Amino acid sequence: MNPAHALNLHELRDAALRRLPRVAFGYLEGGAEDHLTYNANRQALDRIRFVPRTLVDVSRRSQDVTVFGRHWASPFGIAPTGAAGIYCRGAEIALARGARDANVPFVLSTHSFVPLATVCREAGAAPWFQMYIQPRRTDTETLVCEARDAGCEVLVLTVDAATGGNREYNYRNGFSIPVRITRRTVLDGLRHPRWLFDVYCRTLRGRRLIEWTVPHDRGTWSDLGWLRRVWPRKLVVKGVLTVEDARLAEAYGADGVWVSNHGGRQLDGAPASIEALPPIADAVGRRLTIMVDSGFRRGTDVVKALALGADMVFFGRGALYGAAAAGEAGVRRALDLLRIEVDRTLALLGCNAVAELTRGHVRVSSA
Ligand code: FNR
Repeated sequence: MNPAHALNLHELRDAALRRLPRVAFGYLEGGAEDHLTYNANRQALDRIRFVPRTLVDVSRRSQDVTVFGRHWASPFGIAPTGAAGIYCRGAEIALARGARDANVPFVLSTHSFVPLATVCREAGAAPWFQMYIQPRRTDTETLVCEARDAGCEVLVLTVDAATGGNREYNYRNGFSIPVRITRRTVLDGLRHPRWLFDVYCRTLRGRRLIEWTVPHDRGTWSDLGWLRRVWPRKLVVKGVLTVEDARLAEAYGADGVWVSNHGGRQLDGAPASIEALPPIADAVGRRLTIMVDSGFRRGTDVVKALALGADMVFFGRGALYGAAAAGEAGVRRALDLLRIEVDRTLALLGCNAVAELTRGHVRVSSA
């Protein structure tokens, strides 16, 4: 697909669906168990309505933001997604370059197929780095040192994955790394020859099982305290859904909290991120940077979250749709579409800057 023809992330998603075998698209798209939280993310965003103001001169509008002391061209970024290499070859490099050119943050997952040093070299800049507390302190230390030596400015500790979410479609589709060879996965692959050659043959075949089977169920707040002492730069806790945990993150020295239910892929029945956001922003938002993700697909969604107290919004699947559909060009298109949508939304709301957005610009409809 020529990504320039995609009019929105939904069309990039359709293109990704065509391009990927079921085993890969299922891993990209699915949520946990009955998809209650996955669906709730969208339903809650869709219930929010804007309160637009008219006859405001918005001809000098800008969507720039400053987050963690750095200027970004847009109030959104790319969330960490493990094993992105199953969607296109070198996906993490495509994501990093797309983000660099759009001047938005990109967070590299611990479970990247491409090593951090390679991403830094290929994109010419260090991404933010995401990690989990590992069962052995020395392994956590190794990751911290790697991120520090690479020059990562922000370390993101994901805390909503004490164990893997129950994603039943993965078992049904035969998903694993390396991909399990069954009659079904072979047929699936043959129907997607470009993926078979480019991704399976050149990236996946013979790949060792990646370490995401390692449990992360031993982490406690005292690990965050330790991390605060050893990590010299900005520290963010990702996967916070309650005011209590946001306050603890602050007490243990985090610089930011990332309100997230992992895109509905972990605890099914967890609240929609956009609903969890306002009380957390009220509790700690004046002192901590507030990030949010899960279910965001449009610039209007971004602006809703900013109005409700977020400093920055992140896209997981949205960026992957672009990567799967058309590699680096697809990532660029996804980010460009979002930038244009945010710009249009600000104009139609009567705002010249992100800082002008307030809760008065949105209301939650009951229907
Ligand atoms: C993720 N996510 C994730 N989060 C994380 O902290 N480390 C990781 O390795 C991954 N891996 C991952 C893989 C895939 C395929 C997806 C879709 C998601 C969660 C991710 O960072 C983010 O929280 C969600 O993707 C946000 O929801 P949306 O934007 O995908 O709806």
